[in-house]
Amino acid sequence: MATSSSTLRVGVVGYGHLGQFLVGRILKEGSGAGVSLAFVWNRNTNKLKGCVPDDLILSDLTTFTDRKCDVIVEVCHPQIVKDFGLQFLSQAHLLVGSPSALSDPTLNQKLQQAARQHGRTLYIPSGALWGGLDIQRLNDSGTLKALFIRMSKHPSCFRLTGDMLSDWTEGEGRRVLYSGSVAELCPLAPNNVNTMAAAAMAAGALGFAGVQGEIVSDTALSDYHVVEVEVTGSNGFSVHTVRRNPAKLGAVTGSATYNSFWNSLLVCQGHGGRVHLC
Ligand SMILES: NC(=O)c1ccc[n+]([C@@H]2O[C@H](COP(=O)([O-])OP(=O)(O)OC[C@H]3O[C@@H](n4cnc5c(N)ncnc54)[C@H](O)[C@@H]3O)[C@@H](O)[C@H]2O)c1
Repeated sequence: MATSSSTLRVGVVGYGHLGQFLVGRILKEGSGAGVSLAFVWNRNTNKLKGCVPDDLILSDLTTFTDRKCDVIVEVCHPQIVKDFGLQFLSQAHLLVGSPSALSDPTLNQKLQQAARQHGRTLYIPSGALWGGLDIQRLNDSGTLKALFIRMSKHPSCFRLTGDMLSDWTEGEGRRVLYSGSVAELCPLAPNNVNTMAAAAMAAGALGFAGVQGEIVSDTALSDYHVVEVEVTGSNGFSVHTVRRNPAKLGAVTGSATYNSFWNSLLVCQGHGGRVHLC
């Protein structure tokens, strides 16, 4: 239910680190940036009380259709993308903050289909990915041959589903935790591989199964995360970028990624019916 006014009305789903950052920024700077809040939802409503105006708190997510909204920002959990993604896209554009959810090929396909059907855009935030649009252009021109992303972080910055990092000790140095397809990696480290998932969406011809990823624990990285991207095109074309993303010990998300999300949100209008990396 996109509104015709020029203000982008935003529904925020999730009020953790990213949700609080985005809501705070909309409340503070939104009018100047042409962005306003339609609603904020969190599974624990108490967390919202006193921080978000009462009339903007949505207590039951299934009633989101009651609020006029141009874009819904999911900054919660891949499960919410799975449970509500199709409904969200039937009503508004969707900025998927947890794109690791899209490693499920059925869900990915259904969401892309819903975007086409409803003329809404499935926005994928670049997050900590550098050069995502260039990767997408190479992909769209049919000359992307391979893509590899390595994310290296201090062990305290990983949130893994298994116990492959339960025994780390300070000073142990570098340890490769996983190397292989992003499709297999996403379920193992859903909170740590959103950048790789964004890359896999940009590289649609390779897909999650064709994009290679590596996660590395490194106790030397106490001040920043490192994101390396290696792109291979045809006729010897290649690009290698190394991004240092300042991050405190224990932080899953690098500090520059918060501003990256804000910038992603500001472009969420007018790309109807497709996937758009922003
Ligand atoms: N695209 C990117 O570059 C990028 C960067 C950082 C985080 N993320 C992803 O965005 C999402 C939010 O990140 P964050 O740092 O704000 O996380 P967070 O843990 O600080 O906050 C998540 C919020 O969602 C709630 N939540 C968790 N699981 C839930 C579930 N199953 N159902 C309903 N609510 C649930 C939590 O209570 C919390 O309020 C995560 O999925 C994270 O992996 C993506």
